[in-house]
Amino acid sequence: MARVNIQQLIKRYGNFTALKQLDLEIPDGSFTAILGPSGCGKTTLLRCVAGLLMPDEGHIFIGDLDVTRLEPFRRNLGMVFQRPSMFPHMTVFNNIAWGLKLRGWAKADIPARVREMLRLVRLSEMENRTYQQLSGGQAQRVVIARALAPKPDLLLLDEPLSALDAKLREELLTEIAEIHRQTRCTTLLVTHDQSEALTVADNLVLMNEGEIVQQGAPLDIYRNPQTVFSANFIGTNNLLPCTVVDNGTQTQLRLDGSDLCLNVITPRFALTLGQPVWACIRADDIDVLDPATAAVHKNVVNVEMVRTTLTGGSVSVEAKLANIPIRINVGGSQRFNLLDNTHTLTCALSHVTVVAREAQAVRQ
Ligand SMILES: Nc1ncnc2c1ncn2[C@@H]1O[C@H](COP(=O)(O)OP(=O)(O)OP(=O)(O)O)[C@@H](O)[C@H]1O
Ligand SMILES: [Mg+2]
Repeated sequence: MARVNIQQLIKRYGNFTALKQLDLEIPDGSFTAILGPSGCGKTTLLRCVAGLLMPDEGHIFIGDLDVTRLEPFRRNLGMVFQRPSMFPHMTVFNNIAWGLKLRGWAKADIPARVREMLRLVRLSEMENRTYQQLSGGQAQRVVIARALAPKPDLLLLDEPLSALDAKLREELLTEIAEIHRQTRCTTLLVTHDQSEALTVADNLVLMNEGEIVQQGAPLDIYRNPQTVFSANFIGTNNLLPCTVVDNGTQTQLRLDGSDLCLNVITPRFALTLGQPVWACIRADDIDVLDPATAAVHKNVVNVEMVRTTLTGGSVSVEAKLANIPIRINVGGSQRFNLLDNTHTLTCALSHVTVVAREAQAVRQ
């Protein structure tokens, strides 16, 4: 186990700067997910930590050791890549034993450790098989066992599930989380799948264009995105253009082009009167109300339904709030009442957060 501390890291490919003075602290024993769109620099960052790429500037510490210029094999870490990288000609057993031999483990200690790892990844029955005799998920579990066998301080996983189908992905993700629970090895998982990150991580790092955009507890980022990028990437469905106003007793947001004012969760930056902002409202955080009981709720609004789509467990409602499009997800048995209906809905916008509005394209 070890903490990782990254200071002012810069990595350039020719004229292109892939990591822009990046600072990052990864707590000891954490399960950290690095989440960001394709090309934002996730693999570059991981390869710098692994020692497979040399940064142009900055420092990387694993524990108290400055590893920036250290060879990869001296960093005591395990790495798993996107595609299963089992040695195809070796058995499962020998694949896992290989890393131990390389690190000079005593021959007599190796079989017990290999079998312990096989139990951990639930492949005890398969130690004599080769790559051709395993499924993609099993091969990836061998690689995880091989990475963990020498008791690394740090486990680096670069999209380890992306070559697998959806069901296997879910299974192996649960297993990786369980392995972390048992070993407490500091784990860094790179992914561009927000639900994967939210499922397993206790620390979430959002990256965009070579920079860290937001870092913290996954639930906190999910509930309180702080930029338009974070809001969009973590799946906020509604960004409504508003202006900061004061109703005499409190600061509120007035929906542009209407008189409608919304209460917001106290933002972590100072709002100034007249400032243009986005109100962020997740489609799942909008509750459809019985108009008779609406009075006890905050932020009660009427929306005009435009279209409904059954998406399985919920109904997705496209509607208009004061002529601005808004999306609402309705779950539970209530959802069936909404199908084939075009009328006014009374709703409570139960969790409204705010991010600054800049001259920036918004992905909706
Ligand atoms: N060897 C290289 N030479 C030049 N540019 C590179 C090289 N490797 C990566 N890049 C560029 O650096 C940027 C970051 O690449 P990186 O592979 O770190 O992204 P990523 O976040 O891992 O993306 P993905 O989710 O697609 O794997 C990209 O714009 C990429 O095109
Ligand atoms: Mg990558």
